[in-house]
Amino acid sequence: MLAVIETTPPINMPTVTFITPDGKQTVIKNTDGTLMDIATENSIEGIEGACGGVCSCATCHIHVTPEWIERVGPADETEQDMLEFEEATHPGSRFSCQVELTPDLDGLIVEVAPLS
Ligand code: FES
Repeated sequence: MLAVIETTPPINMPTVTFITPDGKQTVIKNTDGTLMDIATENSIEGIEGACGGVCSCATCHIHVTPEWIERVGPADETEQDMLEFEEATHPGSRFSCQVELTPDLDGLIVEVAPLS
């Protein structure tokens, strides 16, 4: 199943695709803020964002697909410490609240981590 959501621009902001563990793909255009912001605003299943984006709840875990890992960049030390407590870790594991969207992330594809 594929859903496409077009939000009000800022112009030249990226299009991002979320893939949930059940295989549903949601394409969100003209994004702004963090990956967690757009996931919760668009009701992406499995992204709760309970702490509001301060990297303390682990309810926004995503897997960046391999071709995007370098461009998204690594987790900082605080995020890495939190990720160590997650079961469904992956080389592209990030907390979506810590990934700020920029124009160079246009086309980004991320998978929502399965609930642990
Ligand atoms: S929203 Fe809580 S860790 Fe990301």
